[in-house]
Amino acid sequence: MSVNSAQTEPLRIGVVLFSAFEALDAFGPLNCINDLSWTENLSLALLSATLDPVTTRSPFSPGATGQSVVPTHTFTAPPPLDVLIVPGGQGTRVSSPEIDGVIAFIRDVYPQLKYLITVCNGSGLVARTGLLDGKRATTNKKAWHETIALGPKVDWVPRARWVTDGNIWTSSGVSAGIDVTLAWIGHVYGDEKAQIIADGLEHTRHEDSTVDPFADLYGL
Ligand SMILES: *[C@@H]1O[C@H](CO)[C@@H](O)[C@H](O)[C@H]1NC(C)=O
Ligand SMILES: *[C@@H]1O[C@H](CO)[C@@H](O)[C@H](O)[C@H]1NC(C)=O
Repeated sequence: MSVNSAQTEPLRIGVVLFSAFEALDAFGPLNCINDLSWTENLSLALLSATLDPVTTRSPFSPGATGQSVVPTHTFTAPPPLDVLIVPGGQGTRVSSPEIDGVIAFIRDVYPQLKYLITVCNGSGLVARTGLLDGKRATTNKKAWHETIALGPKVDWVPRARWVTDGNIWTSSGVSAGIDVTLAWIGHVYGDEKAQIIADGLEHTRHEDSTVDPFADLYGL
């Protein structure tokens, strides 16, 4: 698809949720997708291991606050998907049946996707599937070393707000999920659409994927 051709077929978008996902990793992209759906024909699924509410609350900090989100589908009964968004967060740190289920779902669904988009150390979950092996990718700059260790065969790019390789779009930490989603919207629906959404959010976009102040901040 060329950069300025507008998408006309409806896209079916999914977001994976797991305990202690980072709120903004999911809700930055979701806010952009919600606004996009005002003018474009989309469907949206929130996928998790069960249909129980999924909390953002960190298990590592006693007294941490969090919010819960109700999924629409389980990993065992997903709808057809064209796009999958994978957030990160403290929940990616654990090894658990829940996280193993997230990784298996990403691996199984990938062949049917047109686009896979990761936010923050959500790229660590995708790295653990092997799907990023030999590909360029980025991740959270604060959690850089822990995350890149999960994908020794990945060509990790330390200075990038986001990176695209084939149909996989990976982004830097947390708020970079907004920028990668807007860049993806620009690619698929045209940049004017992305800018209208950014302006509506009163969000100053990072439009150049290679400008990365957080690589400097964290000494990468
Ligand atoms: C969106 O696309 C679906 C599938 O092609 C179609 O059934 C539906 O009518 C469309 N909705 C709108 C508002 O165009
Ligand atoms: C993933 O990123 C989040 C947000 O910056 C951070 O809190 C968490 O510790 C990171 N997890 C890992 C495993 O590095």
